[in-house]
Amino acid sequence: MIVHPLTSREVKLARRPDETPRPEHFEIVTSPMPRPSAQEILVRNRWFRISISARLMMSAGAEDIKGIPFPPIKPGDTLADGAIGEVVSAPSESGLQPGDFVSHHCGWREYAAVPLNQCVLLPSGPVNPVAYLGHGWTAYAALTRGVQVRQGDTVFVSSGAGAIGSMAGQIARRLGAARVIGSTTSHTKAEWMKTALGYDAVIVIGSTPIAELLADAAPEGIDVYVDIVGGEHLQAAVEVARQGARFVLLGALTAELAAKGATKVAPVELDSFQLIIKGMTLRGYSADNDPDAFNEWLQHLDEWQQDNGIHLTSSKFTGIESAPQALHEACLGRLKGLVYVEL
Ligand SMILES: NC(=O)c1ccc[n+]([C@@H]2O[C@H](COP(=O)([O-])OP(=O)(O)OC[C@H]3O[C@@H](n4cnc5c(N)ncnc54)[C@H](OP(=O)(O)O)[C@@H]3O)[C@@H](O)[C@H]2O)c1
Repeated sequence: MIVHPLTSREVKLARRPDETPRPEHFEIVTSPMPRPSAQEILVRNRWFRISISARLMMSAGAEDIKGIPFPPIKPGDTLADGAIGEVVSAPSESGLQPGDFVSHHCGWREYAAVPLNQCVLLPSGPVNPVAYLGHGWTAYAALTRGVQVRQGDTVFVSSGAGAIGSMAGQIARRLGAARVIGSTTSHTKAEWMKTALGYDAVIVIGSTPIAELLADAAPEGIDVYVDIVGGEHLQAAVEVARQGARFVLLGALTAELAAKGATKVAPVELDSFQLIIKGMTLRGYSADNDPDAFNEWLQHLDEWQQDNGIHLTSSKFTGIESAPQALHEACLGRLKGLVYVEL
């Protein structure tokens, strides 16, 4: 029988970072074990996700940002993000048993009292945290609902080694793309993206204009662009787009990861002549609007894994005390795929 402690540790924001969050901006606080109310379950977290969106949501003025499924974080707040935990106790009418695994949004802490209606029971058996916490489903939803990839398409994925990007390239291929191009800032990552993730070409962002790099990698243009970055990437993708190109806009990392600190606006100058002449579609998209895509993604993941091969990329940290460092490294672009902490 597991004996649970009387206390639980959690990560709080100590002070707002001006630039990249570093471990000294956080404190690990020991609190009494949470006491669940009649409509809550007590969960022992086993894994939680680290999202770079935390950087934006801990910046001054984050309370005014609407539409991001991520709470604003002010000094003294405990951080939160997707997590998977083991049920310790649950109301009898819930049907949940101690030892069941549930997903919920109270990460960044060892134990959590989670409202029953915010828990999703996972199937019994071994849990693969990367399948549930990762952004494979976001990428899948974007490529099946945000845009539809067609046989023979050339697809470009920005931040192609990141949490969404590392999955988007692979999924686009399985949905029929003939050529898949990614972007990154690192030559080492670029090589790995070709060998492990199957990108046909990877452009490495540096001093050469992105439009030039992309024109070399896609001499016949692109049909689909998965935009995770905005800014110059988006401008360049418009320049090399083919007739009827479809863009799905998921994120604006140029604003979220701006060197001088996260900003909540991501302006970009686009050539509207190009959009009109090429009959292009640009669609802003949030996977949260298509929750049905999640189970569909899990089914495909099963098939594609048996089929030899979809790579669930992740960077794992261990222990609650490692979480601030994990966020720091994620924001610096040192990591690949889903970043998560195992407890
Ligand atoms: N629409 C949706 O449904 C949805 C869902 C979840 C998240 N999002 C959004 O999607 C975006 C990506 O999320 P993610 O978790 O997949 O992030 P991510 O791609 O894993 O982000 C980290 C990577 O961004 C790259 N990067 C670092 N600094 C950058 C900069 N200044 N400009 C551009 N890229 C930089 C680095 O990769 P390289 O070194 O390899 O370039 C880094 O490893 C975020 O804006 C997030 O809010 C959208």
